Amino acid sequence: MSSKLFAGSILSADFLNLEHDVTEALEAGIDLIHFDVMDFHFVPNMTFGPMFLKALKQKFPQVLFDAHLMCDPITDEVVDAYIKAGADFLTFHPEACHHTERMLTRIKQAGVKAGLALNPATPPQLLRYLWDKLDMVLVMTVNPGFGGQTVLPACLKKIQDVKRMAAEANVRPYVEVDGGVNPMTISQIADTGANVFVVGSAFFGAPDKKLALSELKQHAGV
Ligand code: DX5
Ligand code: ZN
Repeated sequence: MSSKLFAGSILSADFLNLEHDVTEALEAGIDLIHFDVMDFHFVPNMTFGPMFLKALKQKFPQVLFDAHLMCDPITDEVVDAYIKAGADFLTFHPEACHHTERMLTRIKQAGVKAGLALNPATPPQLLRYLWDKLDMVLVMTVNPGFGGQTVLPACLKKIQDVKRMAAEANVRPYVEVDGGVNPMTISQIADTGANVFVVGSAFFGAPDKKLALSELKQHAGV
C-alpha cells in the first residue's frame, strides 16, 4: 500500500447496485471502503447500520472497512455491534461519548483500529491526552451529514495543527480528511500532511472510477 490511502465513501454509491459499485471501486484501486453511519440525531441524515456492514464484509471479506460513526450516543453496545459486523477502522465523534478514552481502549482491545473524528468547530486539543489510544484522527472538512459539500478553509489549518501536535508527541496516527475532497481541493489538502483521503462524490459519482482515482492521486502527489 502507498503511504497515502484513498477511502471510497459508499454514501455516494448507487445503493441499489452496491455490490457492483464496490467491485468497481476495488478494481479502480481504492484502499478502504468508508462506511458512513448516520442516525438523524447527531447529523441531519440517516444511512445504514451494523447489519448492512456485516452483509458487505461477508461479500468482501478481504476489504478493509473504515466505519465512521456519526451517531449519538456512542455506547459499548453501539461500538461492539460495528466491531462484530467487521469494521477494520472504527471512528467516532467525541461529542457523542462520555468516556472517550475508555471507548478507544475498548475498540483497540478488540483488534480494531480506533479513531476520533473532529467536526469543523471541534478543537483538536483533546487529542493531546489520547495519543496512545489513537490509530487515526479524522478531520472533517465539512459539517457531517451529506456528500458533495465544499471544503471549509479553516479546517485545513486544523489538519496542520493535528499533524504538528502528533509530531510533538512523537506519534504517527493516520490523519484522514473527510468532506469535499476532489481534484480541485486534494492538492491543497495533501500539502497539510494528511495521509488518508475520503472520496465520495468525486469518486463514486465519476463515470470512470479508475480515471477519477488516478487523477486524484496525481493531484495528491502519489
Ligand atoms: C459526510 C461524510 C463523508 C461523505 C463525503 O458527512 O462523512 O464521508 O461521504 O462525501 P464527499 O467526498 O462527496 O464530500
Ligand atoms: Zn465520513
